[in-house]
Amino acid sequence: MSRMWKRTAAGLLTAGLMVGSLTACSSEREPAAGGGDATAGGAAAAEDTLVGIAMPTKSLERWNRDGANLEEQLQEAGYETTLQYADNKVDQQITQLQNMINQEADILVVASIDGTALAPVLQTAADRDITVIAYDRLINDTENVDYYATFDNYQVGQLQGQFIEEQLGLADGAGPFNLEPFAGSPDDNNAKFFFSGAWDVLLPYVESGQLQVPSGKAPASNDDWQSIGIQGWGSDTAQAEMENRLNSFYSGGTKVDVVLSPNDSLALGIAQALEGAGYTPGEDWPIITGQDADNANVLNMLAGKQAMTVWKDTRELADRTATMVDQIAQGETVEVNDEETYDNGVKVVPTFLLPPVVVTPDNVQETLVDSGFYEAGDLGL
Ligand code: BGC
Repeated sequence: MSRMWKRTAAGLLTAGLMVGSLTACSSEREPAAGGGDATAGGAAAAEDTLVGIAMPTKSLERWNRDGANLEEQLQEAGYETTLQYADNKVDQQITQLQNMINQEADILVVASIDGTALAPVLQTAADRDITVIAYDRLINDTENVDYYATFDNYQVGQLQGQFIEEQLGLADGAGPFNLEPFAGSPDDNNAKFFFSGAWDVLLPYVESGQLQVPSGKAPASNDDWQSIGIQGWGSDTAQAEMENRLNSFYSGGTKVDVVLSPNDSLALGIAQALEGAGYTPGEDWPIITGQDADNANVLNMLAGKQAMTVWKDTRELADRTATMVDQIAQGETVEVNDEETYDNGVKVVPTFLLPPVVVTPDNVQETLVDSGFYEAGDLGL
């Protein structure tokens, strides 16, 4: 008996409706077993499909937007959804996924906390023929992830590296400049891509001496990125790390010229540390990169405390994921545009990559406001 049948039958019995109505339900499709049931019509497929959405945390603005957008899109299309946030706790996310499986979800959309910790629970999902979409972050070390929807993570880092290169005139030989690089959470597969994209641009300048790293925290290769990773992407952790570097390596008038920050939550903490150390926007404030276009960071950009952010329009990611869900539920071929890059250690996961966009104080209006991502008032414009 399908999940929908059980639920509908229970509902109808409680409501005391006629048996005639019950017979109509018996033709309802089975769960979307790893590709769905092509015989069901679009609307029927949606109504009969429960989508479990697992998000990492409510503490970062972007995931709240992601969850809300995705839930709205899917519900508008007629899907049933259950949306859970896991407070950045791996065990909590595993329990939430297990609960979704117990509720007989047909499709799971998972933005993982630790991309290597979900293999056992996803085996249970596979045993129940549940289709799994990795959302934004790849899930590693399991064959039981069917699709991946994300922004081009390498390109995010590349845009940050190229921005620094251009702003400092590195290609024209300018320098030396003092750089402090940071990387994202060691358990997040994306963080490796962000760092690699940026470091492929910047490392040659570190090697030539145009970029100097007074703290010594300059990975010798992309593979060493975790040595400067900030666990859990925490603003506080990034702030503490930046304070340490400033206290230990920048006494006696040495100044930081540029900070490679992989995302906005780190950039916030780094800015706090700089402020505490007496740096002033417009005077000696370093170039700081970011990612996500979080509200606080856009305000910081407009106040001269962050030079850029890489914007990933979470509405587009929700759209793309909803399309994947639809294609799965209706038994159609799921559209992807990258079948080479995202090897999770067991298989290359078919992926749909979206393009990220650079936002600077100069194009906030046309990118973030004109597109409706923010109201002008949110940004004090
Ligand atoms: C996401 C970023 C986000 C970071 C911290 C990454 O996996 O791609 O957009 O800033 O996690 O939540």
